[in-house]
Amino acid sequence: MSTDQKPILSLQGVIKRFGGLTAVDQVSFDVPKGEVFALIGPNGAGKTTLFNCITGMHVPTAGRVVFEGRDIAGTKPYRTAQLGIARTFQNIRLFEYMSALDNVKVGEHVRMKAKLWDAIFRTPFARREEREVSERAMEHLRFVGIERHADNYARNLAYGQQRRLEIARALATEPHLLLLDEPAAGFTPQEKVELMRLVDKIISRGITVFLIEHDMRVVMEVSQRIVVLDHGEKIAEGPPAEVRKDQRVIDAYLGKSA
Ligand SMILES: Nc1ncnc2c1ncn2[C@@H]1O[C@H](COP(=O)(O)OP(=O)(O)O)[C@@H](O)[C@H]1O
Ligand SMILES: [Mg+2]
Repeated sequence: MSTDQKPILSLQGVIKRFGGLTAVDQVSFDVPKGEVFALIGPNGAGKTTLFNCITGMHVPTAGRVVFEGRDIAGTKPYRTAQLGIARTFQNIRLFEYMSALDNVKVGEHVRMKAKLWDAIFRTPFARREEREVSERAMEHLRFVGIERHADNYARNLAYGQQRRLEIARALATEPHLLLLDEPAAGFTPQEKVELMRLVDKIISRGITVFLIEHDMRVVMEVSQRIVVLDHGEKIAEGPPAEVRKDQRVIDAYLGKSA
């Protein structure tokens, strides 16, 4: 583990309440830069809520969310995307009646420079930028292995291809930190192996990957470090080999669902 390097993300005492329910309860941990970091825990443990607190979809009730040295708690989602945080969703969220390529171009637009004026009058600058955006979007489709489906409606892609398309769209924002919420849910063992390969490729681009995953095998193989949530609380943290042996984890998680 890189101890001398600053973490890319640091959660400090994060709490999220919904009325009387405490979904995330005083959670603190650091995500080291350049690694695969995993968040696991039973259904309802607060994993997705924690992701939502990081991306700005929820404002934490208390605590700090420090990304690259600045507290971003409560920052709006479009802004956290601009700052370099991208995500995919537990329940796939694509523009179903847009082509795969256009879905990725939406991701690119987070970073586009042309103003509305340029776009309306189709200035040379806007046209050049639009062309570059298409080319880059194609590269992202190629990177995740679905370039053959560039022109197909997102809704017509197979389930596994839709998951990859979401990752391509997230990568199009050129994130430093990529949050994947159960990216292998519903995958066959073969698809899981391919997903792990894709995660390796993403890491080798210098992007930090923070993933929520149910399949313990995937988590153990792909991640350097794991945090375990149960009823909103962090109950364990460490390398996979340690976490696997932790009795609280076995009781809370392994015993029940894996
Ligand atoms: N927007 C919301 N409003 C009210 N309760 C919520 C909301 N989002 C999540 N919860 C509740 O918070 C708890 C944690 O949910 P969630 O973060 O989705 O868990 P996980 O992703 O670990 O399965 C659950 O009890 C869930 O019902
Ligand atoms: Mg969830």
